[in-house]
Amino acid sequence: MIDDGLRFPPGFTFGTATAAYQIEGAAAEDGRGPSVWDTFSHTSGTVRDGDTGDVACDSYHRPDEDVALLRGLGVSAYRFSISWSRVLPTGAGRVNQAGLDYYRGLVDRLRDAGIEPAPTLFHWDTPQALQDTGGWMSRDTAARFADYATVVGEALGDRVGRWITLNEPVVVLANGHVEGTHAPGLRLGLGAFPVAHHQLLGHGLAVAALRAASPGVPVGITNNYGPVLPATDAPADVEAAAFRDAVHNLLFTDPVLLGRYPAALAHLAEGTEGDLAAISVPIDFLGVNYYFPEMVRADPADPLGSSGVEWPDAPRTDFGWPVVPAGFTTTLTGLRERYGNALPPIHITENGAAYPDAVAADGSVPDPDRVAYLDGHLRAVRAAMDAGVDVRGYYLWSLLDNFEWAEGYSKRFGLVHVDFDTLARTPKQSYGWYRDLIRAHLP
Ligand code: FCB
Repeated sequence: MIDDGLRFPPGFTFGTATAAYQIEGAAAEDGRGPSVWDTFSHTSGTVRDGDTGDVACDSYHRPDEDVALLRGLGVSAYRFSISWSRVLPTGAGRVNQAGLDYYRGLVDRLRDAGIEPAPTLFHWDTPQALQDTGGWMSRDTAARFADYATVVGEALGDRVGRWITLNEPVVVLANGHVEGTHAPGLRLGLGAFPVAHHQLLGHGLAVAALRAASPGVPVGITNNYGPVLPATDAPADVEAAAFRDAVHNLLFTDPVLLGRYPAALAHLAEGTEGDLAAISVPIDFLGVNYYFPEMVRADPADPLGSSGVEWPDAPRTDFGWPVVPAGFTTTLTGLRERYGNALPPIHITENGAAYPDAVAADGSVPDPDRVAYLDGHLRAVRAAMDAGVDVRGYYLWSLLDNFEWAEGYSKRFGLVHVDFDTLARTPKQSYGWYRDLIRAHLP
């Protein structure tokens, strides 16, 4: 039995989430073209231990095994991402039918298992050929993204339950183009602003393309959010926190929901007014990822003007991220306060935690810290719903341990343990916990 703090209304979607480059492997098979993450991970010194996504979880070759794991959990939806360069090897022009066939096979298997497919079109893996002509710094990439949306919309639109255009565009901006810790590894500082604008434009154009190709399928965007607090009340810290908040929490939401850039960033966005109508085309839901809140102090050496300080009094995950479920509730109620009636229904498209899990001698994988994290964060979502926030679903990150970007395989987020030598999958304690939670909601 579960108590009211973990009880969600009838029809609430319980799912899990993954992303193409993090799980698929088969990086050079069946006509897939390279993406910026192939190039980046093969550049020495970029990813911990020199790890790459060449094999990852090998999910490309194991759709039956992975869908069986989803079926065993009892989830009603699965968020995965489509590799742009598997479908369009050079990002534009020639379509790779084998790539489309793979995703068609996946959505068919999901449908047969009673699981709603919820694909993301862009989870950070820009086709390398487009990067070679400027990537997201180039306005043309937004138009190519819309063309790609038309291709997948026409091929899969009759079978998917919802579309997500972009995943966490702020990470592509900040990690990928401001700081260079993610692909494509550029360090452009605030000069990277066009990467924000072109992703937003690509999102808006893709919404229109998906609507035309697959009428009636809900479309949204996924952003990550989290409270940003100043470390002290010194004006410099307060100002630095406000700027970071604008970049992290407002930059990819105000233009979409309000049709304008946040005031703190307006000076960077001069001359983009003509695109705001296309960017703010209505969406059907907002995808919200939440992991942790931040506390920052002014730091003139940082390209965004601030650096993090340790969050006080919180346990930490294996990533060092503070565990603060209350920050999830205030993130959700804060969205409601800022956007009011302009806020569409919310789907929590990611939430989860990394811990150093290992398979025990008896074959079990105890992960009580993850269970506690999930319990606390689902209660935090429920609390926000009680406060009036319209949340319709929760997609747990992640189904499988996978390639965690610059951290390689060193950070495990899965409900299912993956042995990266044998690729064996072993459900963890948290898998059973989530399965039981879902079962308790069956009519
Ligand atoms: C998010 C990413 C996802 C995964 C989790 C841990 O920022 O969208 O791919 O790496 O963090």
